[in-house]
Formats: sequence, structure tokens, C-alpha cells
Amino acid sequence: MSSTAVVGLQWGDEGKGKIVDILAEEADLVVRFGGGANAGHTLVVGEQKYVFHLLPSGIVRPETRCLLGAGMVIDPSALVEEIETCHRLGLNTTGRIVISPAAHVVTEYHKAADQIGEGSDRPIGTTLRGIGPAYEDRAGRRGIPMSWLRYPERILDILSANARRIEPFARQAGVPLPPPEAETHRLVRLGAMLIPYVGDVRQTVSQALDSDKHVLFEGAQGTMLDILHGTYPYVTSSQVIAAGAATGTGLGPSAIQTVVGVAKAYTTRVGLGPFPTELTDETGDRIRDAGGEFGATTGRPRRCGWLDLPILRLAKKLNGVTELALTKLDVLAGLDRIAVATGYRIDGRVVAVPPEDPDQWAQAEPLYEWFEGFEALPKHPSTVDELPAQARRYLQAISDDLGVDVTILSLGPGRSQTLRGKIQGSPDRGV
Ligand code: GDP
Ligand code: IMO
Ligand code: MG
Repeated sequence: MSSTAVVGLQWGDEGKGKIVDILAEEADLVVRFGGGANAGHTLVVGEQKYVFHLLPSGIVRPETRCLLGAGMVIDPSALVEEIETCHRLGLNTTGRIVISPAAHVVTEYHKAADQIGEGSDRPIGTTLRGIGPAYEDRAGRRGIPMSWLRYPERILDILSANARRIEPFARQAGVPLPPPEAETHRLVRLGAMLIPYVGDVRQTVSQALDSDKHVLFEGAQGTMLDILHGTYPYVTSSQVIAAGAATGTGLGPSAIQTVVGVAKAYTTRVGLGPFPTELTDETGDRIRDAGGEFGATTGRPRRCGWLDLPILRLAKKLNGVTELALTKLDVLAGLDRIAVATGYRIDGRVVAVPPEDPDQWAQAEPLYEWFEGFEALPKHPSTVDELPAQARRYLQAISDDLGVDVTILSLGPGRSQTLRGKIQGSPDRGV
């Protein structure tokens, strides 16, 4: 048995898509286990850029099978569109995609409910993809599992009840709702295209592990967006952390051997909510421009800030991280100096990890250590020694603080802009 989970350690968009693409070379199966089309995973292969929202990033590797686990919520129109895009780009999907019958369907009502929520006086800054309402309906036992896409009467029954429930709110907010009959018809039509892909994901993964195949679990979102442990209520509605790979696929926790935590060399966040190291000045703008920090799903500018060790320390624990993939170090090139938050001051107390009480986030004031900046990094280095000493010091300080080796260092969006192996930085710290 061999298995690796790849999870985001910050607020999403850490570069998981690229890291999964790199690791998928050695994987037989790549499994998405949570979230839905709120995710936007970008990979660059040669001149071609791909952005996947629902399909596992392994789809670009012709030999890899791609599975969508029970923990996901799937917008059938988005998935059909993504499969069609694959075909247009010459990627074969036949026999390579398996969708869990127990994953749930995102309907137009979920998207409408998301829009209504975001128009209220308590917005979250969601992606408007209907994610929260779909998970709510699932937990409320009024959702639609993917396997039901072949039963119009069951869908109509559920949708009619759901329409009655949200109709008054929709009317008040001026958000149009399709009639249940039309929405049923749409879902059944899309379902006809997706049902051939529905199969037993749980069993497929379990058998693959038993026969010594390598399984890669592709996390979506980032740890600080986790429904239980993130910056609640400014979170997504699913389990993001590595344990979600087990529950969202249907395996025991010991099925996951290696956990690769992906972190950017700085921090970004899309949507509302606390972000202690946020830079609202020109350094933040510079990082946004240099890093192309605009949402892969919604195109929104991402909020940018310094690296935050307290959240990485917590994320290491929450995920059981065994290896680090550090991305976008190249983006920091050219800055005179670079700050890293080493703790927070909360109510006069210094803490090394974020508080469990979500209310305390608002008072978290970061304490910084400064590092010397570095000039442009080599685009395709073959060893870490080709990096300037200041850059090596920066990455070593992160790895030392977390007590985890950096085993993947990404210096650009392309496959070849990647170093692998135990990456030794430099032992001296800071300035
Ligand atoms: P994900 O959601 O975690 O998969 O990340 P996104 O795809 O939303 O955002 C990461 C962005 O950074 C994408 O545009 C990637 O192509 C790009 N990217 C990934 N790694 C690197 C890197 O090391 N350097 C630079 N400059 N860009 C990178
Ligand atoms: P990937 O997989 C960054 C954020 C939204 C919002 C909050 C709730 O590309 O890293 P939702 O639509 O999930 O109800 O929104 O979560 N969010 C993400 N931010 N990357 C993502 O995915 C995200 N998925 C959700 O911006 O703040
Ligand atoms: Mg993304």
C-alpha cells in the first residue's frame, strides 16, 4: 500500500494543482475527496495551462485514473463542461474517471441560496458555486446523491420541497429560481452524460491500495478554510484537512501514509475573514502582481501578505504533515527584505499557534522576524545550491521552524521549475 495526501496549509491556492501534477507521475490513481467547483487548480504543462475545478489534476497524465470521492459536492454542468474541455484538448477520459454515487449534486437552488446568503448582511465572500447550501442540504438529509441522477421522480420530489423552502427568501432578495420541473429536467439531461462515470470509488481505492498501487489524494481549499478548524465563519463548508481524504473517500485514517503540506512562500486569501499578516500597502500589490494572485475560479484579486508561521505550525499538526512543498519562492525575488510572522500577540499574550476560539482571531497581531531579500532566482535550477544564500536561508528557517523537510521547491508554474528531494537550505537564520 502506498498513498500520499496533498493538502493546502493556508487559505487555498497554495499551488496544490501543480504539486499534484508533479506527484501524479508516480501515481496510479488521483482522488479528489472534498469541496466542489469552488476549487481552481492550475497546472502548466509546456505551453498549455489547465485549470480544473472538479476533476483531479491527474487527468492530464494519460495513464492515471481520476476519482471523485463521496466527500465532494458536484455541479453536474461544471463537470460536464470540464470533461468536454478535456476532450477538446485531446485528453482521453474514457475509463479514467470514476464518480462516487454518494457524492452530492449541486443544483441551481444551491447557487441561488449562496447568492442570497452573500447578499445578506453577513457575507463570507464565497465563490458563489453553491457549496455551502449543498453541504447544508446533505447534512439536513434533503440532498441529492449523484446516483439519483437517473431517477427524475426522486429529484423532483426533493427539489419541490427545497424550492418551497427557499422561495420566500429568493423573492425578497430578487434572486430568480427555476421551476422544480425545469431544474429536474436539466439535472437528468446532464446526469445522462455523467451516470456512465458513476462507480464505486471507495472499493476502487481500497483495492488499489491492497494491490500496491500508488494513490494520491488531492486536497482542495486550505487548512484555514476547514469547516471545523478554520477561521469560522469565514470558511468553506467541508473538511479540508488530510483526515478528510480518509472520510471523503471511505477509508480508515491509517490509509494515508504521507502527507505533503503545500505552502506558498507568503500568504494569500480570497474572500472575507481574518488575515493577520495581510499587506494592504504597495508591497501587497507588488506580490499580487508578481504572483498573478487573481482567483482561478472567480478572478477576484487575492489578498496578499507575509508568511505566517503560526498558521503553518497549526496546519502541520491538523494535517499530520510529513513533508513540505514550498511554492512561489520566485515571487518574493526583488524585495529588499521579507517578513515572517513568528507569533501573534493576543490580549497582551504572545502565542505560537492560532487560538482555537475563532473569536480571538480578530485580535491577533503578528510579531515579525525579518529576512534579507534576494534577487531573481534561476528559472530552472538543477540543485538548491544555485539559489542565492538569502533564499536558501529563508527556506531553511521555515523548514527548521516546522521541523519538516522541504521535499518539493517550486520556483515557477511549469513542471521543470521544480526541485525535488530533501532540500537543504542554509543553517544561518535571519538578518
Ligand atoms: P491551487 O488552488 O492550490 O491549485 O492553486 P491555484 O492554481 O489556484 O493558484 C496557484 C497559482 O500559482 C497558479 O496560477 C499556478 O500556475 C501558479 N504557481 C504554482 N507554483 C508556482 C511557483 O512556484 N511560482 C509561480 N510564480 N507560480 C506558481
Ligand atoms: P482551491 O482548491 C481559495 C474560499 C472562498 C471563501 C470561502 C467560502 O483553489 O485552493 P465557498 O465558495 O467555499 O463557500 O467559499 O472559501 N475558497 C477558496 N479560496 N481557494 C479555494 O480553493 C477556495 N475554495 C473556497 O473564497 O472565502
Ligand atoms: Mg486555487
